[in-house]
Amino acid sequence: MTSDRDASEVLAEAAAAAGAAPSIHNTQPWRWLAHQDALDLYAERTRQLTATDPDGRMLAISCGAALHHARVALAAVGWQAVVVPLPDPAQPDLLARITLGDAVPISPEAMRRYQTTQLRRTDRRPVTRQTVPRPVLDTLAQTADGEGAHLHILHPDQVDHLAAAVAHASAVDAEDPAIQAELDRWAGGARTEHTGIPDDVIPAQTPQTDVPIRTFARSGTLPIGGEHDRTATYAILYGETDDPAGWLRGGQALSAVWLTAVELGVGLLPISEAVEMPASRQALRRVLSFFGWPYLAMRLGIPDPDHPGPARTPRLPAEQVVGRSGEYVR
Ligand SMILES: Cc1cc2nc3c(=O)[nH]c(=O)nc-3n(C[C@H](O)[C@H](O)[C@H](O)COP(=O)(O)O)c2cc1C
Repeated sequence: MTSDRDASEVLAEAAAAAGAAPSIHNTQPWRWLAHQDALDLYAERTRQLTATDPDGRMLAISCGAALHHARVALAAVGWQAVVVPLPDPAQPDLLARITLGDAVPISPEAMRRYQTTQLRRTDRRPVTRQTVPRPVLDTLAQTADGEGAHLHILHPDQVDHLAAAVAHASAVDAEDPAIQAELDRWAGGARTEHTGIPDDVIPAQTPQTDVPIRTFARSGTLPIGGEHDRTATYAILYGETDDPAGWLRGGQALSAVWLTAVELGVGLLPISEAVEMPASRQALRRVLSFFGWPYLAMRLGIPDPDHPGPARTPRLPAEQVVGRSGEYVR
């Protein structure tokens, strides 16, 4: 790095690249401020789902995923990221501050990981009959541990409990006009405003699944086969605390697990309804034998290699989410 201006440039580019991260309803509820030598990540409350996610749990998990994507982008240009979570108690929406650590050699793995951020998609089609091998599941669990969260792979008996919790949450959602209005606002259509879930990634029919996938306000146009994804594996991402620091770790773990899964040929579908609803969240806690706090449930499975996956969902232009400031000096 030759000057502070260059550091700011590198950080701003990493923030722009982090736009590829997954987020609840593709709300992209983050905002970045690149200073001379630091990059600040803020929660963008105007894109919080206040009915679906009143505590901001899914918002913070989404921001954690973006934070991990920024770390991946920095590693791909040879920089270690030093992350301080929640650096200023007076500013709770300032979720994390990144500074550049040591320069590191650019490895093929780091380059590949960055490419994976550009390829990853949420695929809501049923998975194939091939099961996810146990060593792959173990690798995913270790990946979550590495980010300070954990992955509990559900035993087949426990899948029924997850299915019941999701079905309950989904039924409550269906009766809640404010939640339905949010679904209406964020899912369906062509999404010309660069946020939300377009028709072409929402299944044209309800897939046959053991655990119901989220019902959007209307059907989409994504063709799905008639398969029942009985061979899917389900897991719960969880952690020690149910607070913004824990959710931020959970989001980084989600991103790390998802990118690792893609690199190992596995698809990941987040299932968050059961965590959003207090009663079903409690049911998931029981599945975890009260060992921790659930952040997200997920389906893991092998996607159909013969059919192209869903299209890329839109993203806000970087100018709308990444600001520049020369004011912060360490
Ligand atoms: C915290 C979180 C919760 C999510 N919950 C769900 C869910 O319950 N059902 C679903 O179909 N997708 C869910 N998603 C996936 C998002 O809808 C998806 O990431 C977003 O639309 C962007 O699309 P992409 O992942 O293909 O880039 C979730 C994603 C995140 C980060």
